[in-house]
Amino acid sequence: MNTAQSAAPVDDAAGSCPGVALWPPSGLRITATSRGIPLMLRAVRDEDLPGLVSIFPPDAGYDPALAVGGDLAEVERQSVLRHVWRARAELAPQNWRLTFVVEAAGELAGQQDVKATAFPERRIVETSSWLGESFRGRGIAKAMRAMVLQLAFSEFGAVAAEADSVDGNDAALGVSRSLGYSPCGDTYDMHQGRVEHMLWTRLTRDRWALLRQGYGLSDVEITGARACLPLLGLGAGGA
Ligand SMILES: CC(C)(COP(=O)(O)OP(=O)(O)OC[C@H]1O[C@@H](n2cnc3c(N)ncnc32)[C@H](O)[C@@H]1OP(=O)(O)O)[C@@H](O)C(=O)NCCC(=O)NCCS
Repeated sequence: MNTAQSAAPVDDAAGSCPGVALWPPSGLRITATSRGIPLMLRAVRDEDLPGLVSIFPPDAGYDPALAVGGDLAEVERQSVLRHVWRARAELAPQNWRLTFVVEAAGELAGQQDVKATAFPERRIVETSSWLGESFRGRGIAKAMRAMVLQLAFSEFGAVAAEADSVDGNDAALGVSRSLGYSPCGDTYDMHQGRVEHMLWTRLTRDRWALLRQGYGLSDVEITGARACLPLLGLGAGGA
């Protein structure tokens, strides 16, 4: 038996993911309280995937860039898994996506992503999210977006955060509006064979610093961010 291998560091908090020494994003965690609800965002683990599939809502859609086959219901279910695995496999300084499960009062409630292209140079993140239908209308979507904004601005050194929503997705636009994002343009994108009118919004770091006290979050704690900086092409403190 190879004793050097058996002595490799194991991080219980990372569950079935490799320990943080091997894969730093598996140790990322953000906790906060919003409207009396304790919230936790933590890196998606493989054992979370069946639970995420079981609450994945029909209006969340799936990434059309995923190469999938099978019947539509199967494609949608498997897209939840592939989306997470792809984000892990392709993470690099020039193109990364961090995927978090959202736990509300200990229950799996949805998913929050934050991603970036050429982040070391552009310093702009994009966010996307979904909530299981029974968790909506309680400010959880606003709180979980605010939690990854804290990660992006205070730990990674972002200068702006952007979000795109299909014209008519009033709930998604409502989250951005409520956090103080400003409209910053529109695009026409292909999605599942259709042209969709996307409305873009942006929140600058200065505006975030001005507004964040009003986001209604308390006891915000972030762990594991510093260990991720080299993977994201960043030096200490997100520089
Ligand atoms: C988008 C989504 C996460 C929002 O969840 P939610 O539970 O409604 O959001 P919250 O309760 O946190 O509401 C946040 C803000 O949006 C506002 N809002 C929510 N739904 C709204 C609507 N239909 N019209 C206008 N504003 C709305 C709320 O009033 C709140 O603002 P306030 O605090 O200033 O009052 C949820 O609808 C969802 O999962 N949709 C499917 C996936 C999706 O479209 N994701 C976004 C694109 S990536």
